[in-house]
Amino acid sequence: MHADIVVLPGDGIGPEVAAAAVDVLQAIAQRFGHRFSLHEHLIGGAAIDATGKPLPDETLAAARNADAVLLGAVGGPKWSDPNASVRPEQGLLAIRKALGLYANLRPTRPHPAAMGASPIKPHLLAGVDLLVVRELTGGIYFGERTRTAESASDLCTYTVTEIERVVRRACLLARGRRGHVTSVDKANVLETSRLWRDVASRIARDEFPDITIEHQLVDSMAMHLLSKPRAFDVIVTENMFGDILTDEASMLAGSLGLLPSASLGEGSVGADGLVSTRRAKGIFEPIHGSAPDIAGRGIANPYGTILSAALLLRYSLGLSQEAACIEQAVDDALDAGVFTADLASDGTAVSTRDAAAAVLTRIESTAQVNG
Ligand code: IPM
Ligand code: MN
Repeated sequence: MHADIVVLPGDGIGPEVAAAAVDVLQAIAQRFGHRFSLHEHLIGGAAIDATGKPLPDETLAAARNADAVLLGAVGGPKWSDPNASVRPEQGLLAIRKALGLYANLRPTRPHPAAMGASPIKPHLLAGVDLLVVRELTGGIYFGERTRTAESASDLCTYTVTEIERVVRRACLLARGRRGHVTSVDKANVLETSRLWRDVASRIARDEFPDITIEHQLVDSMAMHLLSKPRAFDVIVTENMFGDILTDEASMLAGSLGLLPSASLGEGSVGADGLVSTRRAKGIFEPIHGSAPDIAGRGIANPYGTILSAALLLRYSLGLSQEAACIEQAVDDALDAGVFTADLASDGTAVSTRDAAAAVLTRIESTAQVNG
């Protein structure tokens, strides 16, 4: 297969982790006989510095024309002046919105070898396998904002259509898993949440009789996620709740640096919830930020971005065997104790490059056996 992939390294540790994932994609192309054309473009603070805009037109045009987008991270202190009129984060929000990527999939499955890095007790973590589906192009992130000397406001809006499509996607994904959806809202306070709950109930009842749905308020969900994480399968929620709950969920896996994400729009979706056609455009990025405190030191955890590249292969290119090969290679590297500083406890931390190299070696050897 030939695929065009746009790479948006961004800021902070973004370029370091994106480079690791690019090497992994090239190794996959090599072993499985594909040709991936990878082209880098600017986004975030790097784009502001070069062009004055966080999402230059040519970046968006390249993303529109590509089969998929791999992204590092955006943001940093250099561009965080509270009074700044352009911010790196606007670039990320704008590209998600422009490409219509309303469903952000954030899977968490704690790896036994990395559980030591989690602050949660091991007996609670065994068997945890959850998938958060975060709504990505609506809600308070995109509402009208006002600011005067005396007050400020951020408007949170959701339409029925916006809720329907993301809940549908979550139910489809649940069908390929354990068939359970937890919809998270704040329906005891917010009107958008009351609409969310009504629509989610209706979609599940009318269209997915084979799926069980439960509703949870976001505050108690934040607690249950840590006290009984095994109780959840697919979790679907609005934009900001999903942002917060997935940083929390990363603590089940041991590090924010381990979690990948796939942001998807429309596309032909199979019964297993997977996008089954090519050109189902997506952005694939780790859930972590640009980590300016460790940027440039070569110590960032590349696994979240490498696993995002696996999701890119699975969801946008339909290459599930290749995706599984990457996931297995990361699992094996973790099993072998190849830990970056965020995971290592005893002075055995390896660099970003060494962690990536451990994955590359394993891809090369497993592919010889399998394919
Ligand atoms: C994420 C990030 C972004 C978000 C920021 C950088 C705008 O935190 O992808 O989770 O809030 O969506
Ligand atoms: Mn976030």
